[in-house]
Amino acid sequence: MLSDPTLADPAPRDSVRTARAESALNPLNSHATVDEGTVANPLPTGASFLKVQGLSKYYVKDKPIFADVNFSINRGEFVCIIGHSGCGKTTILNVLAGLDSASSGYVIMDGREVRGPSLERGVVFQSHALMPWFTVGQNIAFAVKSRWPQWSKAQIAQHVERFVEMVGLSHSLEKKPSELSGGMKQRVGIARAFSIQPKMLLLDEPFGALDALTRGTIQDELMGIVRSTKQTVFMITHDVDEAILLADKIVLMRNSVSTSNSFVPGGIAQVLENPLPLKRSRADLHHLQGYYDLRNHIVDFLIGINKTF
Ligand SMILES: Nc1ncnc2c1ncn2[C@@H]1O[C@H](COP(=O)(O)OP(=O)(O)OP(=O)(O)O)[C@@H](O)[C@H]1O
Ligand SMILES: [Mg+2]
Repeated sequence: MLSDPTLADPAPRDSVRTARAESALNPLNSHATVDEGTVANPLPTGASFLKVQGLSKYYVKDKPIFADVNFSINRGEFVCIIGHSGCGKTTILNVLAGLDSASSGYVIMDGREVRGPSLERGVVFQSHALMPWFTVGQNIAFAVKSRWPQWSKAQIAQHVERFVEMVGLSHSLEKKPSELSGGMKQRVGIARAFSIQPKMLLLDEPFGALDALTRGTIQDELMGIVRSTKQTVFMITHDVDEAILLADKIVLMRNSVSTSNSFVPGGIAQVLENPLPLKRSRADLHHLQGYYDLRNHIVDFLIGINKTF
């Protein structure tokens, strides 16, 4: 069940930078600007759709929040990351999104290094991040229009309605975010991320503010869409059962540990392959062989982290 998160590819960051500079000087490489958020990666990436290598982030020098973070995500894979508050999950997601930069290391997506935001990555933020002066429909239409600028108003409206319906908010299409509950705002964020049909979805606790019933419905919806479109997903969650239900792979992250005379940065502790059959639902999860072993393993890990504080 356990797999080593360390990746084999030892290419140092400097070689990426050098090769990138050479690549930019080569007129034959003009395709590198197709996606403004990434640059062509001259390194072999193997089968992985996304590769994170040697990532670290510090705000205080010599005390990185996390260091030497390595993991990969295959095309169509659903990966959940679990770890205690403050270990750096959102920071990693923001780096994958191109919204934050790492202190060292790099992220390669689909053969290109991530260097800025792109419509190829749909993000659902921990806080919903909606534009308050726009209605629900306009918030989503804005993203859809950016993604497909050539679409007619009718095409955009039809597309928006489809995704608003998916999250059960058709009756609130004309409402502003200030008129919505926290869970409803979060659902608008989910609809917006899905509506641009990105190559990769980055979800930061997307169901955190939802009641159990809505959460279950949207989890099912998410699973259906992801399976049918073979969408690649990186999702942060604090909910162990949610991770077991949705994820093909579960990344366990540990916090940094600071004592009076030592400092150990946080990082990836384990990467678990989900051994449960792909065809699983919330209702039958606890009947499946291997469920309790996996659940207990994750809970023990989380309790173990608590004990160090
Ligand atoms: N701009 C900043 N300046 C200084 N420290 C920061 C900054 N942004 C984040 N941090 C610190 O980085 C650490 C990781 O933050 P991050 O938001 O990634 O944690 P998280 O794992 O997503 O936590 P949670 O589960 O609570 O959302 C935290 O200790 C936080 O205080
Ligand atoms: Mg967070």
